[in-house]
Parts: sequence; structure tokens; C-alpha cells
Amino acid sequence: MSAPQKAKALAKRILGRHPMVTVPPAVANTYVEAGNQWYRPTLGGALTLAPRLGGGRVVREALAILDRLGEDVYLTFVRNFYLAGLAKYGDGWQYADINTALVGLAEVLQPAAYLEIGVRRGRSLAMVASKAPACHIVACDLFIENYANMENPGPDFVRSEVQRFGFSGTLEFIVGDSTRVLSPFFDERPGLFFDIITVDGDHTAAGAHADLINVMPRLKIGGALVFDDVSNPSHPELGQVWRDTVVARSELSTFTFDEIGFGVGVAIRHA
Ligand SMILES: C[S@@+](CC[C@H](N)C(=O)[O-])C[C@H]1O[C@@H](n2cnc3c(N)ncnc32)[C@H](O)[C@@H]1O
Repeated sequence: MSAPQKAKALAKRILGRHPMVTVPPAVANTYVEAGNQWYRPTLGGALTLAPRLGGGRVVREALAILDRLGEDVYLTFVRNFYLAGLAKYGDGWQYADINTALVGLAEVLQPAAYLEIGVRRGRSLAMVASKAPACHIVACDLFIENYANMENPGPDFVRSEVQRFGFSGTLEFIVGDSTRVLSPFFDERPGLFFDIITVDGDHTAAGAHADLINVMPRLKIGGALVFDDVSNPSHPELGQVWRDTVVARSELSTFTFDEIGFGVGVAIRHA
């Protein structure tokens, strides 16, 4: 047996298959050695990323971004909540939410492409846009009027919010029901994959499940999926949706923060 044949046979014994030779789209969070790829390419899984997704230092980063956004009653509450937690526990505060998760992920992954379902006034979107100002962002929302009893001003307002951070990338809006508008959009863009995807739109169990299933194939290897409200008492079914639809999958590693606030889930794709 020749040396390459021996190497392949050994790989098959160890891995149960030959070394991978085709490598799917990947992010900065990967290691790829063409023709000699023994491990799955992801460098940092959920354990590596978890400390970057919350805690006092990251809360301060998110706070600095909130401080530059237009006010609404929810944003004011979140800002005051952050200030109270930081005053009490400082850097030792163990807290995470959609904002801290997205700031941390955008810092580490430096996304070239970001998909967000559920944009509202652009708060979570600003977390990514401020850390990755050249990013291509696809933003999907129905812009339901008076959502959660707060105004939902639409794309022009969101555009003006991200301009506050000198955003120079592209911001593409897909306005409509995500379960209807995203599939045709994906069909038109077969080569489009994302470094980070957030699902925070339809908060029914069926709608959130459909969104997660729909977007997961568009996540790059090494990329991150973010799911909001895993412990929001107004949406008690979403934690179960997260566990059944995402945490249970073997090609992902996951971090779930659900002890304070509305909670957040983050999954890193490995295959
Ligand atoms: C919780 S808010 C998003 C908050 C935003 N991610 C943030 O952190 O600032 C949910 C948004 O999802 C939108 N939405 C609800 N159902 C939707 C659907 N089926 N398709 C698209 N957007 C939807 C609402 O219009 C609303 O703006």
C-alpha cells in the first residue's frame, strides 16, 4: 500500500471516513488545510465563545451601542437594567442577552454576511453593524404596526440608526412574513451563506420553528445562530423550540443563557 493509501486507510479507521476534501463556506472561526482536512473545520465551539457572549465587559460594550440609538421605553429599561447590574456586580456580572451575544459574536467572527429575522427598530442589528461596518446585512421583518405596544417605524428608521455607527456595508430589507418571503429569496440567491443569523421574528412556536429550520442550511461552517427569548415568560414555548430544533442537533454546539432576563440561545455550526 502506498503512503497516501495508508494515510487514508488510517483516517478511515480513526474517523470512520476519509479526510474531508470538500470544504463548505466557512468563517474566520475555522482552520482549513486544503487536501489534508482531518478535523471538522470549526476552531471555536460554544465553550470557547460563551465567555465572549455576556458578562460585565460585554454588557458595557452593548450599553455603549444602546447609548447611541434612538430611545424607546424598552431600550430605556434595558439600559437601566444593565447599569444596575454593572453597579452591583461589575465585571463579575453573569448576564447575557441578544445584544451581548451579538456584540461578542460580531467582534470574534467579523461577519461578512449577517441575516436577521425580526429587526423592529434595529437595536440587535446595530450590535452587528457597529462591530462589522462593511458587512452585507439581510434584514427580514413584517414591521407589524404597534408591535408589543411600541411603534415599529420600518426600514428607513433602521437605516438611519445604523448610520450612527458609520455603517458602510449593504443593508437589504426583505419586508414580509419570513415563512413566506425567505424561501423565494434563498432560491434566488443559492450562493448566499451567513456568518451570523438571528431569529427573533415570529414568536409563535410554529413560526419560530419554521424560521430556524429554514435558515440553518444558510449558516456557514463555524458561524453562529442566535435565538432570542428562550426564557421570556410571555413566550414560554420558545425555550422548548430552541431545545428541540437546535440544541438536539449533533452538528451544532450550543450555549443557552436562561437564568435572568429574557434569555438567549447561541449555536455554532460544525458541519
Ligand atoms: C422582538 S421584535 C425584534 C427585536 C429586534 N431583534 C431587537 O432586538 O431589537 C420582533 C419583530 O419581528 C417582526 N415579526 C413578527 N412576526 C414576523 C414574521 N412572521 N415575519 C417577519 N417578521 C415578523 C415584528 O414586526 C417585530 O418587528
